[in-house]
Amino acid sequence: MKKYLKTILATTMILSMTAALAGCGGTTDEQADGADATDSGAETLVMATSADFPPYEFFEGQEVVGIDADIAKAIGTKLGCEVKIEDMNFDAIIPSLTAGKADFAMAGMTVTKDRLKSVDFSDSYATGVQVVIVKEDSTIKSVDDLFAEGAQHTVGVQTTTTGDLYTTKDIEKKNLGTVERYTKGADAIAALTTGKIDCVVIDKQPALKFVEANEGLKILETEYVAEDYAIALAKGSELTEKINTALQELIADGTIQGIIDTYIKAE
Ligand code: ARG
Repeated sequence: MKKYLKTILATTMILSMTAALAGCGGTTDEQADGADATDSGAETLVMATSADFPPYEFFEGQEVVGIDADIAKAIGTKLGCEVKIEDMNFDAIIPSLTAGKADFAMAGMTVTKDRLKSVDFSDSYATGVQVVIVKEDSTIKSVDDLFAEGAQHTVGVQTTTTGDLYTTKDIEKKNLGTVERYTKGADAIAALTTGKIDCVVIDKQPALKFVEANEGLKILETEYVAEDYAIALAKGSELTEKINTALQELIADGTIQGIIDTYIKAE
């Protein structure tokens, strides 16, 4: 009896190990709902993003494109699986991972201590920096003006981003002004151009795109905080190691830099 049980256990273990090795650890096509799931028989990985953040992720017609989308596809190719991109608000991304609705998230997402309490992060694949956007004639001349004694500015951010975290801590909690939180960075920019708020704190690359697309705005020269972007995954996900291996190969062979250079022209 005992021997029989052991054999079953061993067989089950081998079977599940084989399954883990063969697949990319994501949802299978049958499990992944939605019309986009392909019939190729390949496993599908669901990637959560918030496609409001050029050049990392943005809509081109119906399609989500950008640095993160391209890197995700390259990783999918390495792992032998399809990547299905699921667009949502930025503040829904981490909940979608913890609820098991997405396999991984790429959204120019910064690694923070706080986020590490609820998700795991891959190795970093890019760096970012928080900057301040103001109107060209603004009295705010440098980032430090926001923290000066007696300062009272209204700062716009995308809700739950690191821009939100930092300004809440450095400005709102110190009674140096108010933080207005918007669903999308572009909404914060609209509020700035109409004079509802005094500045926007956001990542530099999208900031450059927003300033390019809107008259009368500029980015302050002094930068606020430097950050590392990485792929977020559910805590303990089997996929993390596979993604890191793929990422390291794609970094080593220049693919990642090539993708970044396609979207970001050297300054
Ligand atoms: N790097 C910032 C953060 O992680 C902003 C990311 C916003 N990304 C987006 N796709 N809207 O909080």
